[in-house]
This record gives sequence, structure tokens and C-alpha cells, in this order.
Amino acid sequence: MSEKTLPLLIGYGEDAHRLGEGLELWLGGVRIESDRGAVAHSDGDVLLHALSDALLSAFALGDIGSYFPDHDPRWRGLESRVILELVLKKVREKGYRPAQVAAVVVLDRPRLGPHRAQIQQNLARLVGLPEERVGLTFKTSEGLAPEHVQCRAVVHLEPLPGH
Ligand code: C5P
Ligand code: MG
Repeated sequence: MSEKTLPLLIGYGEDAHRLGEGLELWLGGVRIESDRGAVAHSDGDVLLHALSDALLSAFALGDIGSYFPDHDPRWRGLESRVILELVLKKVREKGYRPAQVAAVVVLDRPRLGPHRAQIQQNLARLVGLPEERVGLTFKTSEGLAPEHVQCRAVVHLEPLPGH
């Protein structure tokens, strides 16, 4: 009798937040030195939000708003790391784990290049992947969206060993 293995899956997610003076800018769980940050109900970490939505999308599990509604005062100031942890738990319950992450952050300033290693390291740790499986692309909007920080993320998932 042949045992069926689960298929490889992909997920995709996006997020955007408006930038405001004097607010904190968080990306991939890393605080970035900046005079402007995300206007958000949570910490406004577009990278963790897009990635969390990507993971949920792979299983048609809705999006992070289905679990953490932004009108619910309980989730005010919520650390996005907590959202990602809950989503990763759902992924494991489905018998899967992330195999590769690729994300594009669109932001005119500040420059993110100098923070790439730190963001990549932290994101790899949060999702449990080696750094070479966490690809980060930084783009300006070429002035089309100077008041926003945006992220698009794709994730490849594989069955947990034995699934
Ligand atoms: O958007 P554009 O193609 O002009 O970006 C040029 C370079 O600037 C890219 O190689 C990217 O790594 C870097 N960049 C950055 N921080 C940003 C936006 C772009 O380091 N916020
Ligand atoms: Mg360009």
C-alpha cells in the first residue's frame, strides 16, 4: 500500500501602511532607525503581516484580520511576532513548515540595505529557516508612494517530515 505524501504549497501576501512622523518603523521584527514609522493598530510590521497572510493563504485559512480584527481593542499595539507565531502554529497543525520565503519591501526612505543582514537573520529565526532561504528585496516606489511602506511576500511550504 503506497502512502500519499502531501503536495508542496505556495502562499502569497501583501500589506501596506501609511507613514507618520515620530512613529516607530518595524520590519521583520527589527526596529529600523527612521524619523517616520507605520500608522497602525499593531506595530505596523508590513513584512511580518504580508508573510503571515502568505502562510494563511497557502491553506485558504483567510487572513490575519480573521484572527486579529483591527477594530478589536484587545489587539491594540499587538506585536506582529505574536501574529506570526499563531500562524506558524496553524501551519504545523496542517502538517507543514515553511521551506523558503521571498519578500519585497517598497519604501522610499530610509534606505534598508544597511539593515538587510539584521532583518534577514531575525526573519530566518522567527520562521525557523536558514538565512539563505529568506530572500529580501528592497525597492523604492520611485516617488509614487513616498508616504507608504509596502510589502509583498511569497512562501513555499513543504510537508513536515513523516507527513
Ligand atoms: O527602487 P530602486 O530600484 O531604485 O532601488 C535601488 C536600490 O536601492 C536597490 O538595490 C535597493 O536594494 C536599495 N533600496 C534600499 N532601501 C530602500 C529602497 C531601495 O536600500 N528603502
Ligand atoms: Mg529601479
